[in-house]
Amino acid sequence: MAANWKMNKLVREAEDYVARLLPQISDAREVDVAIFAPFTCLHAIARMTQDAPVLVGAQDFYYEDFGAFTGEVSAPMLKDVGAGAVIVGHSERREIFGETNEMVARKTTKAVSAGLLPIVCVGEIKEERDAGRMWEKVGAQVRAVFEYLDAGEIGGDALVFAYEPVWAIGTGEVASPEDAQDAIGKIRGLLGDLVGEGFAEEVRILYGGSIKADNIGEIMAQKDVDGGLVGGASLEADSFAKLVNGAKAVVE
Ligand code: 13P
Repeated sequence: MAANWKMNKLVREAEDYVARLLPQISDAREVDVAIFAPFTCLHAIARMTQDAPVLVGAQDFYYEDFGAFTGEVSAPMLKDVGAGAVIVGHSERREIFGETNEMVARKTTKAVSAGLLPIVCVGEIKEERDAGRMWEKVGAQVRAVFEYLDAGEIGGDALVFAYEPVWAIGTGEVASPEDAQDAIGKIRGLLGDLVGEGFAEEVRILYGGSIKADNIGEIMAQKDVDGGLVGGASLEADSFAKLVNGAKAVVE
């Protein structure tokens, strides 16, 4: 269960959140928990979670290690402040900041080689879904990752995919459990073709888009859905703790 705070929280707020979250999820060891925080909060919360089973990650990075890339942050810099994971290709980066499939593929490849777990986001916009082109879009996004990433070199634990239909992000319009399963099942099938059955079975694929405490159970119950990437409902520690414990109930 992954929290994506997006562009929210000052350092003090992040610290208060983690202090409030940890005791509430201490019995949920079966669930892998990650927090994707703004760069400015990473150092503080990585220190606070050093002895806790919580993975701390960034929401983006650049695929060169250093150099004249004003405003960017590299994989070694993320690792330096204690991050172990990074979101790659979130739809907000693709739609607002013009990230292409090629950039997403380069970032994914770099994250894997640097030892950061990439959460690679894919998803269609409303017009594409309405036109029956969900899989055309999502399938192409998944394929593009493997134009740079050498699939022969990695196991299914080297990366995570997140299917986040753009029309369901921050809208309250959650995908039906059947739609989430349909897309995620197709992604897993394609990974089987592109990389191999063992990889496809092992790799984790999350759903994201208007997850709340009252819908997490039915989404998580779908065969191919391994977890959630949560925006709005992850911003309060109590609310995110409910999702972690909700996921625990499904896993058990
Ligand atoms: P919401 O949960 O706010 O819809 O956001 C989903 C998301 O974009 C997570 O990355």
